[in-house]
Amino acid sequence: MPQPMPPTNAQRRHFLLEMLPPGSVGAEIGVHLGDFSQVILETVAPRQLHLIDPWIYNPAPEYERALYGGRSEGGQSEMDERHMSVLDRFGPEINRGQIIVHRGESAEMLGALPDASLDWVYIDGNHTYDFVVQDLRLSLAKTKPGGLVTGDDYGEGGWWDGGVKQAVDELAESGNAQLLLIQNGQFAFAVTGT
Ligand SMILES: C[S@@+](CC[C@H](N)C(=O)[O-])C[C@H]1O[C@@H](n2cnc3c(N)ncnc32)[C@H](O)[C@@H]1O
Repeated sequence: MPQPMPPTNAQRRHFLLEMLPPGSVGAEIGVHLGDFSQVILETVAPRQLHLIDPWIYNPAPEYERALYGGRSEGGQSEMDERHMSVLDRFGPEINRGQIIVHRGESAEMLGALPDASLDWVYIDGNHTYDFVVQDLRLSLAKTKPGGLVTGDDYGEGGWWDGGVKQAVDELAESGNAQLLLIQNGQFAFAVTGT
């Protein structure tokens, strides 16, 4: 009997996008080629979508299996091409101000947005523990009370050695944010405000 096809990345994450309100203002940390940004655009129809990615090649040995390390055969010029392809792909949305592309590390780019200015954040950037801790902390500050801080790749292992899971679990245990769900490798926190 033929085996059912495994769900695509977009199918696996679709339920999460249904939790994000149409007309909202959100940010995706880690854009790569903009494939999920496109799904967000079509499913959520956000009023404004901030796309944050440094598109920087990292040659360090611990990044050998990263899309922006050893898996980027063309090194920095491939990263530059990815950035250009995203600008090209979303040209009309960028021109009308619906999409804003921020080329830089999330710590700096998300950090520069006003506090409590976003309805939601989707974290899918550098998955190593320290970076996820920082992305979670900043995302909580930048998201309005009632909003959502969400992200990808919650689970054991990976080249990032479970960094997403560790950071998410610690935040949930700290009581500083309310963990709503973990499903299909996705996580979502409700932002309650202070
Ligand atoms: C898994 S890919 C993102 C995939 C994309 N969200 C999707 O689903 O189509 C991870 C991305 O994170 C970016 N990245 C790495 N370090 C980052 C950082 N400090 N801040 C923001 N993005 C980062 C990489 O350049 C890479 O494009």
